[in-house]
Amino acid sequence: MPYLRQAWYMAAWSRDVAAGTPLAITMLDEPLVLYRRTDGAPVVLEDRCCHRLAPLSLGRVEGDDIRCLYHGLKFAPDGACCEMPGASRPPRAMKVRAFPVIERYSAIFVWMGDAERADASLLPDFVGVEDPRWRMLPGRMEYEADYTLIQDNLLDLSHVAWVHRNSFGRGEAERSRAWAEGELSIRELARGVRVTRWMPDSPTPLPQVPMVGPRCDRWSSFDYLAPGFFLMRGAVFPVGSVPERGEDPPMDAAVSRSFTAQAVTPLTRRRTAYYFCFGPAVEDPGAERLQHAFRDLALMAFEEDKTLIERQQQVIDADPSRKMVLFDVDRAPSLYRKVLERLRASE
Ligand code: FES
Ligand SMILES: [Fe+2]
Repeated sequence: MPYLRQAWYMAAWSRDVAAGTPLAITMLDEPLVLYRRTDGAPVVLEDRCCHRLAPLSLGRVEGDDIRCLYHGLKFAPDGACCEMPGASRPPRAMKVRAFPVIERYSAIFVWMGDAERADASLLPDFVGVEDPRWRMLPGRMEYEADYTLIQDNLLDLSHVAWVHRNSFGRGEAERSRAWAEGELSIRELARGVRVTRWMPDSPTPLPQVPMVGPRCDRWSSFDYLAPGFFLMRGAVFPVGSVPERGEDPPMDAAVSRSFTAQAVTPLTRRRTAYYFCFGPAVEDPGAERLQHAFRDLALMAFEEDKTLIERQQQVIDADPSRKMVLFDVDRAPSLYRKVLERLRASE
């Protein structure tokens, strides 16, 4: 499947792009260089000098511009060559591609399609670490796998029961199984899929046991939005306290609430960046402790995903002719594929 091109992809957490230092990142098989102008605004150019195709990321940031340190051409934020050693005015053909970029939600997003079609309204409400409602800690991992395997993994959280039996499940069968046996509702959105899951009268996640006791009614709802944003809210309620188990329960009745925002960015066909941040609501009791407890659990769980998915990729590559045989748990991943095909067809 070709990449969705006319879309924003997350390229970095803001804190990882320092002033004065170019950062190389390949996205959708395109080598890019990120750097900051003197006012701090991010710039994204192709990481390929138009002269002899040396990487600009080996160059030097000079004010708002970047200089190639092979033969000294200097490029402005719009990609035009603005200084050529030995020439008073560089020819117009001397330029590199510039990519539209937005810095918001403590992160940097790049438009990978045609620059004139860049549409800020297509960037979802990602909710980054600076959001005042949540106490979140950020992170990043890289997978040696195609992004679609990570996307399918996030869209079908029944895998929590099996892959995360030792982290989220704490080795207790009933705690794990709640994720595979929950009451699920799945619906299509304009640019993605919403999956809501109720796990009534199920074992409470360990970090929240002090607040609600050993059992709770557990709710989680996520949107998976093109081209790869996963936004999930979760809440635990005292057993039986929510009479109607719908898509939007009364959050003020929750004993503890959590949020996670994640972004899946294909770097190449076999390498994917996975950005995440998560944490409890700031005003929830024990938020400071929960923030760290959630992070420790999630990091353990993400390593479990990575181990499985990278091995899955190797098995797939060993015989690419083998087809997958899907079943009921694949409803949301299949629906999202349809959405993606619809969006791609409209590009
Ligand atoms: S390769 Fe960049 S100036 Fe020659
Ligand atoms: Fe997982």
